[in-house]
Amino acid sequence: MTIEIVQAQASDLGSLLEVNLQAFGPEEGPTIVELIKNILLDSSAKPCLSLVAKSANNLIGHILFSKAYLVSQQGESISTALLAPMAVKPEFSNQGIGKQLIKVGFKQLKQQGVELVLVLGHPEYYPKAGFINNAIEKGVSAPFAIEERNHDAWMYHELLPNCLDGFSGQLKCCDSLNQAEYWQE
Ligand SMILES: CC(C)(COP(=O)(O)OP(=O)(O)OC[C@H]1O[C@@H](n2cnc3c(N)ncnc32)[C@H](O)[C@@H]1OP(=O)(O)O)[C@@H](O)C(=O)NCCC(=O)NCCS
Repeated sequence: MTIEIVQAQASDLGSLLEVNLQAFGPEEGPTIVELIKNILLDSSAKPCLSLVAKSANNLIGHILFSKAYLVSQQGESISTALLAPMAVKPEFSNQGIGKQLIKVGFKQLKQQGVELVLVLGHPEYYPKAGFINNAIEKGVSAPFAIEERNHDAWMYHELLPNCLDGFSGQLKCCDSLNQAEYWQE
């Protein structure tokens, strides 16, 4: 199966929302769909990187990164992207499509000068794609406190190697994600 990973076009919106709805299921899906629509309209989230996976012109996966900053108490900042959400159509899961979406995302974000990528998510999944568990331990605070039992789910990937060495700061994310409900794993 040939998979193409490309930037989402306006005409992809309906299909990418549908993929998220299917992947997250009837309980969580509608909230995720609303979140994606909000992020895409959110000026504080720009530039966003919205990528889709296509096979034979069918949209089968989606990933969204929004603009953020990791800011130290001294006011220094690291250019950051926050990954939320991502989804692969259930019948195409476990074929490496999620990992490919993350890999292409990293490459394009790096080209844009982004230094760090953060995600709050499945602590066993994201390390398979280059993330490191427990960003708290590395000095990265989330916009809302993450319970200690979930620290492993708060993960980082340095696009600029070692950019977190000697740095500690708090994430300033876009308005749409700056709500407590999105920070409880
Ligand atoms: C999570 C998700 C994006 C992974 O995409 P995918 O294309 O199926 O995953 P990949 O093929 O890249 O990776 C497969 C590997 O990840 C593991 N994996 C897949 N989903 C996982 C999960 N939810 N938790 C832990 N590990 C998971 C598989 O066991 C497999 O492991 P292996 O490589 O050791 O065999 C996809 O399953 C999905 O859309 N899930 C529902 C929505 C969701 O939870 N999104 C993420 C929110 S944080």
